[in-house]
Amino acid sequence: MSTVLAIHASPRGERSHSRRLAEVFLAAWQARHPQSRLTRRETGRALIPPVNEAFVAAAFYPEPDARPLSMQADLAFSDELVGELLGHDLLVISTPMHNFSVPSGLKAWIDQIVRLGLTFNHTLDNGVAQYAPLVQGKKALIVTSRGGFGFGPGGELESLNHADTLLRTALGFIGITDITVVAAEGEESAERTFQISVAEAEERLLALAREF
Ligand SMILES: Cc1cc2nc3c(=O)[nH]c(=O)nc-3n(C[C@H](O)[C@H](O)[C@H](O)COP(=O)(O)O)c2cc1C
Repeated sequence: MSTVLAIHASPRGERSHSRRLAEVFLAAWQARHPQSRLTRRETGRALIPPVNEAFVAAAFYPEPDARPLSMQADLAFSDELVGELLGHDLLVISTPMHNFSVPSGLKAWIDQIVRLGLTFNHTLDNGVAQYAPLVQGKKALIVTSRGGFGFGPGGELESLNHADTLLRTALGFIGITDITVVAAEGEESAERTFQISVAEAEERLLALAREF
């Protein structure tokens, strides 16, 4: 992997744990790959527009090559985000868990990059919709922080974790299936509990920086 796109989704800046943990990975990864290219995209502290009617009309226009100029303009930012995604090998998403899912800015980013004809295709098979991913050869690393405890695999709250499942499903839908999740849990538990989880996450991220 020689190029990384880092998406930061926390509304918090320096106080964000997910952001800081992702930066631990990025610093270690860059130290090992000094020639690499790293791009950061903010979805937590900058507005990613939600999908609106004009976007839907333009994105699903039946003749994409003949889109009117006004529709091309409606998709310009989405085109930029898709180009950015396609232009990097490794996607690193840092995100808090917000109300059992991801912050709305990250959801808006997903809605902007899941694009018919660019990142997935749609056909009909005997009148039934079929979908095919168009993105190939990418990995994703999701670095997340949660207030509660037990949302990971086998945990008591796993079935309430709609953040990892949303990211895995949406990224998988466009063809990014090689996904690793590293989580720090328990910010709202005793300080020591969270510290241990953060230290374990850091260790895992440093190991991944040597691997990727
Ligand atoms: C609006 C909001 C909703 C939250 N919802 C959840 C939740 O559903 N489950 C959870 O475990 N923690 C939840 N938290 C706590 C955050 O996940 C936790 O503070 C996390 O460490 C924040 O990550 P950050 O430091 O990167 O912003 C929520 C926090 C906020 C501000």
